[in-house]
Amino acid sequence: MLVIEAQNMAKSDSNEDGFTITDNKTGKSYDLPSRTGRMGNRLIDISKLYPQTGILTYDPGFSSTAACKSSITHIDGNKGVLLHRGYAIDELAMNSDYMEVCYLLLYGELPTPEQKEDFDNDIKNHTLLHEQLIRFYSGFMRSAHPMAVMVGVVGALSAFYHDQMDITDIDERRLAAHRIIAKMPTIGAYAYKYSLGMAFPMPRNQYTYSENLLQMMFSNPAEDYEINPVLARAIDRLLILHADHEQNASTSTVRLAGSSGANPYACVASGIASLWGPAHGGANEAVLKMLGEIGSVKNIQKYVKKAQDPDDPFRLMGFGHRVYKSYDPRATVMRESCHEVLQVLGIKDPKLELAMELEQIALNDPYFVDKKLYPNVDFYSGIIMSALGFPTSMFTVMFAIGRTVGWISHWKEMLVDDEHRIGRPRQLYLGEEKRPYVPMDKRGHTDKKTGWSWLWGGKR
Ligand code: ACO
Repeated sequence: MLVIEAQNMAKSDSNEDGFTITDNKTGKSYDLPSRTGRMGNRLIDISKLYPQTGILTYDPGFSSTAACKSSITHIDGNKGVLLHRGYAIDELAMNSDYMEVCYLLLYGELPTPEQKEDFDNDIKNHTLLHEQLIRFYSGFMRSAHPMAVMVGVVGALSAFYHDQMDITDIDERRLAAHRIIAKMPTIGAYAYKYSLGMAFPMPRNQYTYSENLLQMMFSNPAEDYEINPVLARAIDRLLILHADHEQNASTSTVRLAGSSGANPYACVASGIASLWGPAHGGANEAVLKMLGEIGSVKNIQKYVKKAQDPDDPFRLMGFGHRVYKSYDPRATVMRESCHEVLQVLGIKDPKLELAMELEQIALNDPYFVDKKLYPNVDFYSGIIMSALGFPTSMFTVMFAIGRTVGWISHWKEMLVDDEHRIGRPRQLYLGEEKRPYVPMDKRGHTDKKTGWSWLWGGKR
């Protein structure tokens, strides 16, 4: 057993006050430095543990492991606080537009009017897709999930800008960052238009980022498109609320991919792939599916009970979060936005009524209260997007568009971090020890009827 003892609970981030670990097997003690960020938890710095002691740490899911230092986003999961570069998410959602938040995440400060204008214009200059890239779409099935199209098309960007991808060159890094933020709405909207068999609308520079996204998603080439400012604002807010969230699964994926020196388009494609999973960005789509399955208020109790049954894989989608053990502050803003949109559009959505009822029942149920399972941002975002006219398959695409700036900001930050190295986790090996090779004629026989499933963990 290893005993860990805090030497001194110092508040500074100096490495002088640390921890001593004692290996009870050998009786040996080792001193480990501590680190404390400007806010947040105190950390044991174990980066030298293995070279000094030959001991590894085990932390599946990284629940107790900080893999990098960062100055972009701070979350206090117990208090329900989310800050981007020190600014509270609700203030940003109420007062900023998405471009301003992008600038803040990328460059660390809110932009001056001149910086904002330059940034807006630069992003507008990169929204078009190369004609050859547009041909990629026709290679996909019309029925393909738009996230599958996103992974492919975003990854393919690296085949178009290979002469401007020197990640050691600041200008090329900036160009790639702006380019990818600019092109994401176009790529996403075209994935949707392609599924409908409709012409691809051109991005238009008279519109803001979010207006343009609306226009490319919903305009009809035979008619003029009129921007509804309430819808544009709702989209903008949605993008702001998804812009960054510290070291979540997709951002960590982007960092890990980027740690090998991979190009930014490939890194963002890997982030999109990670985001697609139902435990992460795919949850908003899963919420709508779940509400459809529950169907009516009278069935809620049955599903709440199912979610509590350890033998039933069903979970209440849109509830719970690895970090928030209190209300997700983004969910609070999203909830308000959700009501506003439905009111302005005059939509009476039975799914929203069901969602509100489910929220109340789950918030008062001892299982959810004890495990601190609160509604997360995905719980409401799906309902807003469905009210705005997005099909469920596009929900995670919207999340990916908003999150791109977070991925790119972390990639940018990682590249200039003097402690940055290739990411290479270790493992707890439970497999066979070294054994002699067995020739085929000495291996015995299996029943062919058994099939493959037991090899994948099924019952034999
Ligand atoms: N419904 C029912 N029970 C739940 C739920 C849920 N939504 N979420 C967690 N639990 C239970 C677990 O069964 C577990 O119970 P146990 O301690 O008895 O085994 C306990 O709460 C802790 O859950 P973990 O899965 O260990 O928590 P973790 O931090 O690993 O997972 C996650 C967090 C993946 C978000 C989980 O809460 C979940 O699956 N939620 C539903 C999917 C979802 O909404 N994802 C969106 C996340 S937010 C985002 O990506 C923007």
